[in-house]
Amino acid sequence: MREFELLERDGFARLGRFPTPHGTIETPALLPVLHPDPKRQVIPAREIRDRFGLRAAITSSYILWRSPELRARAETEGLHRLLDFEGPLMTDSGAFQQHAYGSVEAGPEEILDFQERIGSDIATVLDIFVEPGASPEAAQRGVEETAERARRARERRKGLLAVPVQGGAFPELRYRSAQVASELGDLLAIGGVVPLLEQYRFPELAQLLLAARPALAPQRPVHLFGAGHPVVFAFAALFGVDLFDSSSYHKFARRDAVMLPEGTVALASIREPICDCLACQEVPLPELRERPPEERERQLARHNLAACAKELSRVRQAIRDGTLWELAERRASGHPALYQGLKAAVRGARWFVPVEPDSRPSFRWSSPLSGLRPSVIRFLARLALWSAGKGPFHQFPRITLTPGSLRSVPSSDSVGAPLWWEAATPIGPVPLELLEVYPVGCWVGPELFDPDLRRVAPDLVEEDPAEAPELRVARWTGRHVGALYAWCYGASAAAKLGELHLQAIRSARTGRLRRLDREGHTWFVVGNDGIPYPTWAGAKELHRTLPAPQGRVVVASDAVPFVEAGRTLFAGFAASADWGLSPGSAALLVDGEDRLLAVGRLRLAPPEFGRFRRGVAAEILSHARSPPPVVEEPSPAAWPPENPAEGA
Ligand code: GUN
Ligand code: ZN
Repeated sequence: MREFELLERDGFARLGRFPTPHGTIETPALLPVLHPDPKRQVIPAREIRDRFGLRAAITSSYILWRSPELRARAETEGLHRLLDFEGPLMTDSGAFQQHAYGSVEAGPEEILDFQERIGSDIATVLDIFVEPGASPEAAQRGVEETAERARRARERRKGLLAVPVQGGAFPELRYRSAQVASELGDLLAIGGVVPLLEQYRFPELAQLLLAARPALAPQRPVHLFGAGHPVVFAFAALFGVDLFDSSSYHKFARRDAVMLPEGTVALASIREPICDCLACQEVPLPELRERPPEERERQLARHNLAACAKELSRVRQAIRDGTLWELAERRASGHPALYQGLKAAVRGARWFVPVEPDSRPSFRWSSPLSGLRPSVIRFLARLALWSAGKGPFHQFPRITLTPGSLRSVPSSDSVGAPLWWEAATPIGPVPLELLEVYPVGCWVGPELFDPDLRRVAPDLVEEDPAEAPELRVARWTGRHVGALYAWCYGASAAAKLGELHLQAIRSARTGRLRRLDREGHTWFVVGNDGIPYPTWAGAKELHRTLPAPQGRVVVASDAVPFVEAGRTLFAGFAASADWGLSPGSAALLVDGEDRLLAVGRLRLAPPEFGRFRRGVAAEILSHARSPPPVVEEPSPAAWPPENPAEGA
C-alpha cells in the first residue's frame, strides 16, 4: 500500500495525498456521512461526489450490520454499489452509537470482519467512546480496551485501519492512546470529542488536541471524528487534523439551521440572499423559508454541505499561502468560544514551534491573538537568546524608537558608548538590524509601528555627527549584514562570514537588502523575509564555516548522484536533519562524509525526517552545476558606495 504524502504545509497543517483502494484522498478533506440506507440519504451520494467535489465519504458499518436487509445487500453487492459511491469509503465502527444509545450489540471482531467483507477502504476499530466527563479510571479502562481491540484488529486486517484515540479529558491518556494509534493505525482518528464540539467547548478540544499531538506519527493522516461545521475546520487544521467527518450538514438542516463559516444562523432570520452556493442559486435562503419541509430540509442540507466544502477549500488555499493562522483568527473573532479555544492553542505555542516555517510571505495582523502566534513566539525566543550573548550588540545601551520619538533621539549617549537601536513594534522592541526579517519585515497590520524605520535606520545610527554620510551608511550596512549572519548562523560563524566583506546590494526602490555579492558573483540572495539564502558559492563558504551537523541534512548514499545533479531529495533518502533547521530553511545537503552536494529548501520539519517514506523532503535551490541566480533589478544602487576616503 502506498503511503501518505505531504505536499505543502503551514505548521502542522498540511496538504497531503492519502491513497486508498478506491482512489486517493486529497487532504484536508471532509468525509460526509452517507446514510447506510441509500433511501434515507438526503443528497444522492453521486451528487455529493460529482457536484460538491467531495470525493471520499464515510458511513456507519454498525447501522448497516444491524439491519438484516441492508447487511445482506452490503455483503452481496459490496459497500460501494450499495451506496452508489465510486470513491474512497471509510466505515465507522459503532462507538458513536455506544455514546448515543449506551451500548452496541456487535463484538469488535464481528464488526471488523464485516467491514472487511463489504469492501470498506478504511475500516475502524470498535473503540470505547470515552466521554469528556469520564472519571480517570473509566477513561483509562476505555483507552486500554481500545488499545487491546486495536491490536487484535491489526492482526486481522490487511487493508487500511483507522485506530481511534480516546482518553477523555486526560492529557496523559490522550498521549498514550495516540502512541498506540500511531503504532497500529494507518489513520489516527481522534474520538470522544462530539460533546465538546456540540457544546462549543473549544478550549478543552484545543487542550486534548495538543496533548495527543506529539505522539501522533507525522507520516499518518489524522482524523477528527464528528467535526463537520465550517467554524472548526481552520482551527482543527492548525493542529494537523487532515480529515473531518460529520452528518451535521443534514442534522442541522432538519432543524432549519444554516451553517456559515462564521457560525450557525436560524433560517427564519435570513431575509437577504447572503449565499450563492449551488443550492442557494436554485432557491435563495430567504425564499427557502416558505418551501415545504421536505424541500427545505434537502436544500438546506445541500447549502450546509456546500458551506463545509467551501470552507475546506479556503483552508487548503490558506495552507498553500501560509495564512492559516490568519484564517483561524478571523473565524475565532466570530465566536467567543472559538476565540477562547484559539487562545488555549496559542498558550501551547511551544508545541508548534518545531514545525513552524522560518517565514511566510507576509504577517497579517488579524486579531489580538496575532502577537502570540508561534512565529512570533519563535522570533522572540530567538531574539532573547541572541541578545543574551550570541548577538554582536548585546552589550550596547539600548534605545527604543517609536514613531513619535524619531525626531528627538540623541546622536550618541553621554559616555559615547555604541548604542543598540531598537524599533518599538507590536511584538516589542526589535533591533533595527532585524526589521527586514519575518515577521516584522513583512508586517501588514494597523499602524502600530512604523515600518519606515527601516529606511531611516542609517540616519538614526549616527554615532559620530562629524562622520561623512556615505561612511555612516556603509557602517550601518556592515552592522546590518553582520546582524543577519549572527541571526541565521550564530555569532562565531558571523565573525568568519564578516571577513569575506561581501558587497551588500539593496533594492533601488525599497532600500531593502537584496543580495550579497563578491567579485561579480552572488553569494546570498536575500528573500522577502529578510533572510539571506546561500547560492552555491555561499553554501561552500557556509559549509566551511559551520561545524557539522549544523545547517545540514545527510543524504543516503543511493540518492547522492541525483541530489548532486540537482534532483529533488525524497523523504525516503534523508534520514536526519539538524534540529536548528525548520520547514522552509535553506539547508546544506551533504553525503555521509560531509561532502557538500547541494543547497535544499526543507519541506519536512527536522522531527519528521526518517518518518515519511513518500514525498519530497527538500527541493534543490542550487548545486555545483546550477546557473547563477537571476538578478531581479537592473543596476541597483550598491551599498556600500565606493569609499571616498580610499579614493583620496
Ligand atoms: N464518531 C464520533 N465520535 C466517535 C468516536 O469517538 N469513535 C468512533 N469510532 N466514531 C465516532
Ligand atoms: Zn448556500
